[in-house]
Amino acid sequence: MVKVAGIAALAAVIVCAFAARITSQEEKKMQDALSVIHQRKSVRNFTGEPVSKEDLDKIVRAGMAAPTARNKQPWSFVVVTDRKKLDELAQGLPYAKMLFKAGAAIIVCAEPEKAHGRSVEYAVIDASLAGQNILLAVEALGLGGLWTAAYPKADRMAHVRKVLGIPEGVIPLNVTPIGVPTGEDKPKDKYRKENIHREKW
Ligand SMILES: Cc1cc2nc3c(=O)[nH]c(=O)nc-3n(C[C@H](O)[C@H](O)[C@H](O)COP(=O)(O)O)c2cc1C
Repeated sequence: MVKVAGIAALAAVIVCAFAARITSQEEKKMQDALSVIHQRKSVRNFTGEPVSKEDLDKIVRAGMAAPTARNKQPWSFVVVTDRKKLDELAQGLPYAKMLFKAGAAIIVCAEPEKAHGRSVEYAVIDASLAGQNILLAVEALGLGGLWTAAYPKADRMAHVRKVLGIPEGVIPLNVTPIGVPTGEDKPKDKYRKENIHREKW
């Protein structure tokens, strides 16, 4: 009888220790995700070093992990590393001159034809979530990047379409220059208590 109670007590200790370990692992994972979220910033200063294909693949995979309405995944991603193309993109985009020193760019495209209800709105929302995942993955890999606008500016979308051969029905949502950061760019504290409403507006 004493032996059975002893075994039961030992089993309980092992279960508790295991549960505590899982909890601390989960907490660590959560902290990692939160620190990446809070460390993310628009990086506009790059060293000029290249970005590896492996990192770019990880970044696009993170984009594709985003949620979408009815899981339609109405998007495509154009990955650019060719210096000439990056420079050509920069020439027609007044607020994306950092492309001249970026090692790569990912153009997030929204595809209304694939979206829930063929909706432009859903396509843009879904692709925007992929765009944010991309920015977070860039940060998590120790790289730098930022969202530069194509959509909703007709002239910028036309330029991106022309340089990359993107069809008319596809919306080039943004251009995301990616590179090795110089370290000059820092995250901003945007927490504003007054923007939170609790229980009612
Ligand atoms: C829809 C959108 C369009 C943007 N377009 C540009 C742009 O064309 N050029 C640029 O330098 N930054 C652009 N940004 C980056 C914002 O300026 C930046 O996110 C904002 O200043 C907050 O800074 P943070 O990203 O460091 O937190 C854009 C961001 C968003 C969300």
